Amino acid sequence: MPHTLAVLPPEQGVRLITLQRPEALNALNTELLGELAAELDAAEQDAETRVVVITGSRKAFAAGADIKEMAERDLVGILNDPRLAHWQRITRFSKPLIAAINGFCLGGGCELAMHADILIAGEDARFGQPEINLGIMPGAGGTQRLLRAVGKSLAMQMVLTGEAIDARHAQRAGLVSEVTQPEFTVERAVAIGRVIAQKAPLAVRLAKEALLKAEDTDLASGLRFERHAFTLLAGTRDREEGIRAFQEKRRPEFTGQ
Ligand code: CAA
Repeated sequence: MPHTLAVLPPEQGVRLITLQRPEALNALNTELLGELAAELDAAEQDAETRVVVITGSRKAFAAGADIKEMAERDLVGILNDPRLAHWQRITRFSKPLIAAINGFCLGGGCELAMHADILIAGEDARFGQPEINLGIMPGAGGTQRLLRAVGKSLAMQMVLTGEAIDARHAQRAGLVSEVTQPEFTVERAVAIGRVIAQKAPLAVRLAKEALLKAEDTDLASGLRFERHAFTLLAGTRDREEGIRAFQEKRRPEFTGQ
């Protein structure tokens, strides 16, 4: 049983994971990151789980890496940091990951949110990379993913000033796709998850992979990858079912084959 997370079994294909370290505004210590990576590994293997939603509390999605823990690590400690392996496992998760964000979403918390494929924010959410105030800089993908999400100028401003932006600003900048009233953030994220959970799992997986490819490759290679993925799906029963169901004017029944 995880200590720092609450995990609900999948309902209609959507598994909900809630970060639970209220005493530290869900700061991501090594235990929490390890437990989250383990839960995502379990969700990866579980056929009933089609989509995962991660959330925090109303006050904080996560207020960053755990500064108390970080203070104890020197250079060699950071070089041998087990957290890197946990981040890599989170990055590897191949099913759709949706973040439902209320309150503080700072530092490593913002970096965790940016590991999600879809970000839904409550009106009171605040996004920031305040590491510069501690004499350090983002270290879990913040410089790379933030720049890709919001462009150079805003990413530079956020990382170099350490100042946070609000949910509406984050939406205008493209960091989040929807802003909701805070009490409905999780509900909305789960509803989006349920829509995705009804689609053909292999098509969802390859579409996610192709979209992520766009973030780290040139256009010609990305288009080549897309074409290969699209062609691969021609071998699936779900493609046959999807097309037949359309022709027969009924809902498709996808099996993941
Ligand atoms: N690590 C450890 N503990 C944290 C924490 C963090 N990142 N953020 C908050 N806490 C703890 C506080 O120490 C406090 O605990 P105590 O009561 O035991 O002192 C508790 O959570 C509540 O926090 P506050 O009293 O500070 O709450 P607030 O509402 O007054 O302020 C806040 C909220 C503005 C988010 C403030 O807590 C804050 O600035 N937190 C730090 C944010 C930050 O700098 N994050 C970046 C961390 S570095 C990083 O993430 C590196 C990386 O990229 C890998």
